[in-house]
Amino acid sequence: MASLPLPLTSATPSSQSRPVFARPSYFITHAKRSNRLRVSCTDAQNKKEASRDIETPLGKVDRRNMLLGLGGGLYSAATLISTPGASANPIKAPELDKCGVATNLNTGAMLDINCCPPMSQDIIDYQLPPVVHMKVRPSAHRVSPEYIFKYNMAIDRMKRLPKDDPRNFMQQANIHCAYCNGAYDQPGQGTLDLQVHNSWLFFPFHRWYLYFYERILGKLIGDPTFALPFWNWDNPKGMTIPPMFLDPKSALYDSKRNQDNLKAVLDLGMTRNKDPLQVVSNNLTIMYTEMVRGNASVYDFMGKPYREGDKVNPGPGSAERGSHTAIHVFVGDPREPSGEDLGNFYSAGRDPLFYSHHANVDRMWTLWQYFLPNNKVPEKTITDPDFLNTSFLFYDENAQLVRVTVKDCVDNLRMGYDLERIDLPWLDYRPPPQTARAQVTRAHKTAENAETVFPLKLDKIVRVMVPKTTKGVADELLVIEDITVDTTKFLKFDVFVNDEDDNVEELDKAAYAGTYAQVPHKTNSKMATTSIRLRLKELYEDMDVADDDTVLVTLVPRHEGDGVTIGGMKIVENPTPAKSSSG
Ligand code: C2O
Repeated sequence: MASLPLPLTSATPSSQSRPVFARPSYFITHAKRSNRLRVSCTDAQNKKEASRDIETPLGKVDRRNMLLGLGGGLYSAATLISTPGASANPIKAPELDKCGVATNLNTGAMLDINCCPPMSQDIIDYQLPPVVHMKVRPSAHRVSPEYIFKYNMAIDRMKRLPKDDPRNFMQQANIHCAYCNGAYDQPGQGTLDLQVHNSWLFFPFHRWYLYFYERILGKLIGDPTFALPFWNWDNPKGMTIPPMFLDPKSALYDSKRNQDNLKAVLDLGMTRNKDPLQVVSNNLTIMYTEMVRGNASVYDFMGKPYREGDKVNPGPGSAERGSHTAIHVFVGDPREPSGEDLGNFYSAGRDPLFYSHHANVDRMWTLWQYFLPNNKVPEKTITDPDFLNTSFLFYDENAQLVRVTVKDCVDNLRMGYDLERIDLPWLDYRPPPQTARAQVTRAHKTAENAETVFPLKLDKIVRVMVPKTTKGVADELLVIEDITVDTTKFLKFDVFVNDEDDNVEELDKAAYAGTYAQVPHKTNSKMATTSIRLRLKELYEDMDVADDDTVLVTLVPRHEGDGVTIGGMKIVENPTPAKSSSG
């Protein structure tokens, strides 16, 4: 494989306090699970947390074993752990022979392409192969010319495969279209659509998708160690499209991209601020907020439960609706009718950049599970059996149709790939405390009261006073309810609390609470309703809220026109505070 550059710790203000990551080679030869926890400065605490036993109907199960997926049998114990509300069944893999016409989600029109995969009746239950070579996915802006050459060759070969070969590039792209644009129904549930976005299936579906894509590429160049590069958009050095994707002669090139953004600094907040330094700072704040500050539970990060018989889009997690969505929209081409390629689910997989974007999305899942010592949530992994037993179908690198389950993908090392260790400049990027007293009193005069304004149309900036449950710094969540969205549009709004200066282009301040955003997608009815919750504890810590029993919430739409209605807003106590004393 290509030689991987040694990871460096880039100069950021607090890099000294940050874990120093071991060399990739260390992880290749010493790929034991417990090493993961050793990178953190709160090592002892993590180990204690990680080894705490969990009570199950079968007796005690070591949390670490469940978390790390050692041995298949442990999952059967894990699946017996009851989760509140876990009474339905997991979503079943789609029936390929019932694959139908997909829909262009931006227009609602039927697509004139057929994105159904080739048929096969021969389905094998996939077994993860033993890990012989641990692959290491590299950061895309740090790879060698040899690596780029090899990657380009692999994609080129994939594009040249016969059109009906399920491993052909277009067939691979169509996997995304079929699973995301209403081509499949949930088996046994009539015409209820199957959708892998906007729920807890987001991370596992895309992980399996990339897993087979990567194995196919490796097979095409005879290199079982080939690992996809991740677009390291969470690091300032990776906040432009990686240059390897911009060479028109390369198989990695796609002409359907926003020409203004080919070399522009990625704007995760879509604030349209013109100062690249401000944009980078916004980006780091967004990463910190969606990975660390804004989540009170694993569901806030992963997305809401989605079980057999459920309607599509129960609700996306913080990363899916935040950085993930922003990048789709940043790259998609406004000259195209529907934001093709990356800006629309049906066509997103046609841009080779998609797979590097999602390799970094996937990396966020791994980081969330194993590398965030500051994450003050009770659990970092979903043990609900309806999650773990959800299944999907893919064609593997030998063009064999296989059925995979979520439980086999919750640990990337068990799947045979690791990640290049790169500094995480957002990990401690907590906005500075607000120095002056928030001018809530002034704002009070112009804000509406929560009881009077709903439902409210988000076609301009709105300000609402929302009562707290208690004065001072409590562990509270802001719940934005019945967010009704037109699913065929790109929509985004940001949320600020007690925003002192009202400069809505700057997100790197204590008042920034989080975001809602969506890539256009299909539901049966065009309109969909969802809700989000944003944790406020750290915001309160960094602002003067001691005597306040209400806060001022500002909602800033980043999209044009209407398309979002908010049904209600309230502040509640965190129902699942982390018990750990470090929290
Ligand atoms: Cu399945 Cu980023 O979309």
